Order: sequence, then structure tokens, then C-alpha cells
Amino acid sequence: MDDRSFVAAQDFLLSSKTFWTKQIYEDLKRTYEDAVARSGKTPTTPADVAAILEGDTLYRYFAWLERHLQRLKYAGRYGLVPYHDERRSVLAPPLRDTGAELSPTLEMPSYYRRVDIHQHPGGVMSDELDGYVYERGARSTTPLMGASHADLHHRFTDLVAAQDAERVLYGRILDMGCGFGKSTQPFHEAYPDARIDAIDLSGPCLALAAHQAPSRSSPKVRFRQMNACATDYEPDSFDLVTSTMLVHELPPGEIEKLFAEAARILAPGGRMVHLDFHAIDGPFARFMHYGHGLRNNEPFMQPWAEMDIHASLSDKGFTNIKVIPFQEAEGVDLENHAAWRFPWTVIQAELKTGG
Ligand SMILES: C[S@@+](CC[C@H](N)C(=O)[O-])C[C@H]1O[C@@H](n2cnc3c(N)ncnc32)[C@H](O)[C@@H]1O
Repeated sequence: MDDRSFVAAQDFLLSSKTFWTKQIYEDLKRTYEDAVARSGKTPTTPADVAAILEGDTLYRYFAWLERHLQRLKYAGRYGLVPYHDERRSVLAPPLRDTGAELSPTLEMPSYYRRVDIHQHPGGVMSDELDGYVYERGARSTTPLMGASHADLHHRFTDLVAAQDAERVLYGRILDMGCGFGKSTQPFHEAYPDARIDAIDLSGPCLALAAHQAPSRSSPKVRFRQMNACATDYEPDSFDLVTSTMLVHELPPGEIEKLFAEAARILAPGGRMVHLDFHAIDGPFARFMHYGHGLRNNEPFMQPWAEMDIHASLSDKGFTNIKVIPFQEAEGVDLENHAAWRFPWTVIQAELKTGG
């Protein structure tokens, strides 16, 4: 497969996805609102919305596209997996000695092994090129952000750093579920003097992170293979524990462990901040988001979105708990969005001192 065919096919998929995100979503929303107006009843749950939409042809087309455009992105004739596989002899060797601290015997949790997350064949950890495939796939996950997609991670870091105007509070930072390092790099830029550990279950993603990230040249950033729910850090190891798009991938029991682990390794008064999908406005948005989770092989979207975060975190010794909708890009209207989007949310809390 030559580069031009691959790029053309992936561009086509991205354009189709953009059409799906804007026009088809908008029409679907209108179809739903018209049906509600006709019925005179106000739906209050995702099940009420399902009763209206599930038999609708446009909804079925929307759902089919959501599932299959993503499938083709990875696995079709011009998919990311065959494209990178054909270039293995060039791409793989530089990943084998990057300085990433890998633990080849680390046990992979069953939720992680059993699901091909995002429809990525084999998930993000079964092939040494999975980091590349994931990196390329992430570029079209949220098509509306287009070229400014990277901005999302910087916007998040800016928000966290704004609470630490003097840049002194977070000398020791842990990025949980760092993937190929996209969430780690902005923290390194905002806190060049901080010691940053970035951990992930995926060896291939960590190898790519260590190979590519500008932060690789800094001895202050380490990429380590570890389960975020059971790390090897001592208590009081970090001032800030963060994650970006990790929590929704975990089953509820593992989320509890993740929060407990963050509480264990944070310094008293230290802060935990996650960027994820949680605050969802209304039954239609909930129905669409839960459907997205199922169609994109992210089965824990719903239990996570329904979790009582305040109860869970205060149980574990956190205080000042805040769950705040996050504007992922300039110009996004959080109240009234016409196009499909993730329900981006910042979840933050502080570990009680003396507790
Ligand atoms: C959606 S990706 C986000 C990656 C990165 N934070 C970013 O913003 O680009 C989620 C990452 O979490 C990792 N992950 C899932 N469960 C994990 C766990 N229990 N411990 C550590 N990492 C985990 C996955 O391997 C994946 O790289």
C-alpha cells in the first residue's frame, strides 16, 4: 500500500466522520426533538430516548456509521493496522531501546485484555507498533477539533497550572495512563523543573512516548509500565496525580482502586485532577454517549458516568471535590451544542491534610 492511497483513504474516513458528527447528528437531534414535541411527553431517561430513536432509520444509519467508520479506520484495506504492519522493519527497531522502563511480566487486567478498545484490533498493547497505530487513530477521534486537537491537552494543563500561579506546588507529578505521552508533554512544558512520572499498562505506547516526546531528552521525565490502580510508589510520592481519558476505560471496581491508589501516593494536601467524560446534560446526550461507548468498545462509559464521585472520593480522604464541565476547544458552546461531542469533564480533589 503506498502512502498516497493510505492518506486518501484515511482523509475520506475523516471527512465522512466529520459529516456524521455535524450534519447527521444535527438531523438526528432535530428528528428527536420533533418526535418529543409531537408526543407531548418529556423524556427523562436514556431508556425514554431509546424508545423514540431506536427504530428510526436515521438513528440506525448514524449508529452504523459510528461503528463502521471507526472499524475501517483501523482494520480495512487502508486501515492503520495493515499500513503500519507493512512498515514494521523501519518503525519497530527504534522502539526497542528508548529508555522507557518496561515490565514485560506485568499482569494485564482482564478488562484490558478482553476488549479491543476503540475497536483497535488487539487493543493498544499486543503489538509493538500499537503506539503508532493509537497515535494516528487518536487524530481523528474527535474530528471537529481538527488541527487544534492537540490543544485539548494544553488547555487542560493550563487549567491545572492556573491553580498554581507560582508553579511551586507541583514539584512531583504523576500522569496515569499516559498513552504515547500526549498528556505528559504539556505538563513537562508547564513544569520544566518538576519530576514527572508517566505510567501506562501499554509497553508499545510507552516505547513510542519515550522515543518521540520532546520530554524524552529530560532526565526529569520517566515513562514506566505500571498499573495505575496498583503502583509501586511509596506514600507521599507526588504533589499532583493526573490523568487524561483514562478513568472511563476502567470498570467501577478498578476506578475505586485508582482513586484509593491516588490517595495513598499523594502528599497530604496534594491534588488529583482527571480529565474525562462524566458531566452529561440531559437524557438525549446520555443516550448518545452510552451508545458511543458500546459502539466504540468502551463498555464502562455508562457505569462511570453514573458513579457518585463525591461519595467515592470523600470516602478515600479527599476534600474540595469538584466535577466541572470542560470546554475542549475555543468556541464550543457547552449549553447548546449542535454537533456531536464528548462530555468533557474535569474531576478534581485534594487529599485532606492530617487524614
Ligand atoms: C485513551 S488513552 C489516553 C492516553 C493519554 N493520557 C492521552 O491523553 O493521549 C488511555 C490510556 O490508559 C491506559 N490504561 C488503561 N488502563 C490502565 C491502567 N489500569 N493503568 C495504567 N494505564 C492504563 C491505556 O493503555 C491507554 O494508553
